[in-house]
Amino acid sequence: MYWKKLSHEEVKKAVFDALNENHDYRGENPALGVPGTYLDTTEFYHDAPFLKDAPFMSVMVNNPNHIGIHTLSEESVLDIFKGTQKIERDLINLVAEQIFGGEKGQQDGYVATGGTEANIQAIWVYRNYFRDEFKAKTEEIAVVYSQDSHYSMPKGANLLNLHNIILEVDEETRQIKQESLENKIAEAKEAGYKYFIVIANLSTTMFGSVDDVDLLGDFFTAANVQFRIHVDAAYGGFIYPFTNEDSAFTFKNPYITSITSDGHKMLQTPYGTGLFLIRKGYIHHVCTQEAQYIPGKDYTLSGSRSGANAVSMWMILKIHGSEGLKYKMASLCDRAERICKKLERMGVEYFRNPHLNIITMKAAYISDRIAKKYNLVADSYEFGAKWYKIVVMHHVRQGALDSFLMDLEGELVSKG
Ligand SMILES: Cc1ncc(COP(=O)(O)O)c(C=O)c1O
Repeated sequence: MYWKKLSHEEVKKAVFDALNENHDYRGENPALGVPGTYLDTTEFYHDAPFLKDAPFMSVMVNNPNHIGIHTLSEESVLDIFKGTQKIERDLINLVAEQIFGGEKGQQDGYVATGGTEANIQAIWVYRNYFRDEFKAKTEEIAVVYSQDSHYSMPKGANLLNLHNIILEVDEETRQIKQESLENKIAEAKEAGYKYFIVIANLSTTMFGSVDDVDLLGDFFTAANVQFRIHVDAAYGGFIYPFTNEDSAFTFKNPYITSITSDGHKMLQTPYGTGLFLIRKGYIHHVCTQEAQYIPGKDYTLSGSRSGANAVSMWMILKIHGSEGLKYKMASLCDRAERICKKLERMGVEYFRNPHLNIITMKAAYISDRIAKKYNLVADSYEFGAKWYKIVVMHHVRQGALDSFLMDLEGELVSKG
């Protein structure tokens, strides 16, 4: 993985150059047919002096629409936004090829609203792929995921009318239990399910646990069934590849067909930056032919979407370069490691993957007072907490962590 860091001036110039290639609603050329325009000038006036030094805000105010998918050809879907749509294409290529090891130009993708949409997009593609390629009936297709997976999986299965197969995980290691995998898939085959949309987590929301994608791939291959694996890296996609040089979660891994990776988690981009990436040759299964008024048709769940989101992701990736992001993510892991060492000395049981910045402690050690004071997040608010997590994000100050650890130690010592 390597890409060069750009200076602020270089990033700014590239974004303004892209914006200049877009249609200017204020310019001489008419754009009479589109139901889009710049932001309302009563509040968002375009001659605000700061805008000339604020490329992201300038894109927001100009309001380009990135409807559709821009990786299918070098042409942009809407010519009037070709400058920023090209930035989105560069972004998809950069993430797919440099961060996820894909071959040059061999992946499609787009900036979805978030991880939920990107995961549902994947399930949608595979459902249609099985129906189109194998004449599968909807009742023969199941979505398979661990009990620690994000709720976007049952949401997607519900929307797409698919059966859920939820695999149990080991209470301590959070790994999928082999026995559960074997039994549930055997039962499903017995019940007539023949096509499996398998989710591999990089990582889970609550534990930062990472599924063994090769084990899943080997298992379904041996089971002699049709399957495709989607990686939910909504959380881990912009940290794990930087902290683990031996990551199995790349497009070099033949088991992996698509990946969700959210900018608005570890990359610190605005909400609305969930990246969906998929190997070429699949996205046409969700082409909406009826999208006749869009020159490139539509292959996404979202429809109209802001070009500013794609630009924000591109800017953050370029301003740091690969080495800057490696350093940034390693620092978060170092800080998480430090907390873990302290928890161990205090005898507090926890789960953590060493390449991630989530620490999930058993709730037995955490009082309600501490959970509330430090805004810890529980695994379930409905059924009672069994676990509480700390996510060592960029805003988490060392002082706050020290206070938390001292407070916790004080309580545990007084309880004996
Ligand atoms: C593992 C995982 N997948 C998917 C999502 C959904 O992301 P979003 O809230 O951006 O839709 C999350 C959000 O926390 C997540 O942690």
